[in-house]
Amino acid sequence: MTRTDILHIFQKEFGPSEFLVFAPGRANIIGEHTDYNDGYVLPFAIGQGVWFVARKTAEPRLDIIASNTGERAVMELNGESMTDFGWQKFFRQVLVACQQLPVPGLQLVFGGDLPIGAGISSSSAITCGLIETLNLAAGWQLNSGEMVSTAVIAETGYGVRGGIMDQYTIFNAKQNQAILLDCRSNTHDFVPLELGGHQFLLINTNVKHNLIHTDYNNRRAECERALTSIKSLYPNVVSLRELDQNMLPQIKDLLDKTLYNRVAFVIEENQRVLQAVEALTSQNFDLLGQLLNQSHKGLSDLYNVSCQELDWLAELAENHPGFLGGRMMGGGFGGCTINILHQPLSQEETELITRDYIREFGFAPTFIPIVPENGIIARLTED
Ligand code: GLA
Repeated sequence: MTRTDILHIFQKEFGPSEFLVFAPGRANIIGEHTDYNDGYVLPFAIGQGVWFVARKTAEPRLDIIASNTGERAVMELNGESMTDFGWQKFFRQVLVACQQLPVPGLQLVFGGDLPIGAGISSSSAITCGLIETLNLAAGWQLNSGEMVSTAVIAETGYGVRGGIMDQYTIFNAKQNQAILLDCRSNTHDFVPLELGGHQFLLINTNVKHNLIHTDYNNRRAECERALTSIKSLYPNVVSLRELDQNMLPQIKDLLDKTLYNRVAFVIEENQRVLQAVEALTSQNFDLLGQLLNQSHKGLSDLYNVSCQELDWLAELAENHPGFLGGRMMGGGFGGCTINILHQPLSQEETELITRDYIREFGFAPTFIPIVPENGIIARLTED
């Protein structure tokens, strides 16, 4: 679904629209499962995302069409509902998170080109896009920090105790820049992405994940348990981010093997993010590729959030001559790998990889070239 399609559907169903919002998906170069440990991440927004077209109404409800599927829903403002499912749950959680604010009635059509459950932040794009649409329609004038925290509250209400990376990226990203986000201070520096012909490529395993049904929340709980034990030795430590490799020998005695592996991964991954910034700044893409490969090994072997399809694609990224490196991206358990390539793959290379993947798993992967784009866009509809 393109912006034009969605504008067209709105016009046909509701007449002239007033507001247009685009919430992008996000990629993350490196720094996985570090955000909820107060660590570093290095994401950027991508060109693919979710469009919202809306008009304010006097009725106390949201009249919604999901253009990709043609589904319709009417949600009463302040109403309780036990029947919401799928994307409606995200809408409901936004209404709950915004209940202190005067929420206007809206007619709204949304949709786009972001695959669902692929680790590219489709749920945050929907959540952030709706908050931005309401903000514009109601004139709340929330700043980006307030919108980020409202989106995090809404998504936590949905059941995934995620970090801040996705929402922060959607509201703050800039074209041709990555965001070095420090999740302890919630501040960022931009890192220019001068790729000199190199390409970031996502490969979707097409193994869909819904983080609610995965071990995502368990990983967070494991990190919290590890921290509680570590505090017995280092009482001033408030998050895993504050640990460094020199502390690992002492920490080893405090934790069982699983918790130790989780902590070791978080320490190493935070270091890799800072090394990746140096690699990008000095345009050392070989090093960047190696860091992505190392990150994948840690995510797979120490943090245990990979799956066989992701491992297969990460091995491809390590061995295929066209790739400098690659790793699983996002929460894991399915979704995409992010890869850095010398140049775009030829059609022949793409077909060969697809053929081998199908032979192994019985279904095809999807190749998604990405470029670093601006964050959320909100404006009045021109027509
Ligand atoms: C999901 C969460 C993020 C982050 C990643 C893992 O995408 O929404 O906050 O924790 O997983 O890095």
